[in-house]
Amino acid sequence: MSEEKNRILKISILRFDPNDPKDFPHMETFEVEEAHGMTLYIVLNEIREHQDNALMFDFVCRAGICGSCSMLVNGRPTLACRTLTSKLDENITLAPLPLFELIKDLSIYTGKWMQGLNERLETWIHNEEEKLNFDKLEERMEPDLADEIYELDRCVECGCCVAGCGNIQMNNDFVGAVGLNKVARYHLDPRDKRTEEEYYNIIGNEDGVFGCMSLLGCEDVCPKDLPLQSKIAYLRRMMVKTALK
Ligand code: SF4
Ligand code: F3S
Ligand code: FES
Repeated sequence: MSEEKNRILKISILRFDPNDPKDFPHMETFEVEEAHGMTLYIVLNEIREHQDNALMFDFVCRAGICGSCSMLVNGRPTLACRTLTSKLDENITLAPLPLFELIKDLSIYTGKWMQGLNERLETWIHNEEEKLNFDKLEERMEPDLADEIYELDRCVECGCCVAGCGNIQMNNDFVGAVGLNKVARYHLDPRDKRTEEEYYNIIGNEDGVFGCMSLLGCEDVCPKDLPLQSKIAYLRRMMVKTALK
């Protein structure tokens, strides 16, 4: 009885070190024998351990939780640690997510972009009246509301929705679905005392909710399946209502 042979994967990676003046963006192809249950995380580690220890890429959790392994897989933004090679053709192309600062090869600086976004949108609870008191018991919240907030809090800041949004390519200041999702999360939270006008000042403009052209790429590529479209539509209705007041 003949044994079935494993596929040989051909992994083409966009290589570039922006800090090396002699380097230029170019593709390099590596061959890796596929194994059962193999993910792109395993593939990249195989390459780094056995073929090129200078290859750079980011991973922390390997479980779709930290959001650091986002990259373009055959042109589509996704998390490499959650991508099984069995779902892909044997020719696989990997490239860093566009728009974010490139560190080297597949490694990008999403943290810096996300920090800037969080500062711009002030993604924390605003409550001027409440003084910090560690002895106070937490306020009760309706379980359905807590679930709704938790649903939006599942964002891992991977940046896939940013890379998948054609609008950000044209307007780099657009806060993207990740930013609008964060605002929707705080707007839902009864502990946040910001008024509708204060929210309007943050996202009632072309860099905010009116900059979204409903291209839908964000929800399509979000690895956490967040309900981005319905939240953007909800914010848009809310902002229009505030503008017409
Ligand atoms: Fe990633 Fe989804 Fe969060 Fe966008 S909304 S950063 S795609 S988890
Ligand atoms: Fe971009 Fe998503 Fe809006 S892809 S334009 S943020 S619907
Ligand atoms: Fe954490 Fe992939 S390594 S999400």
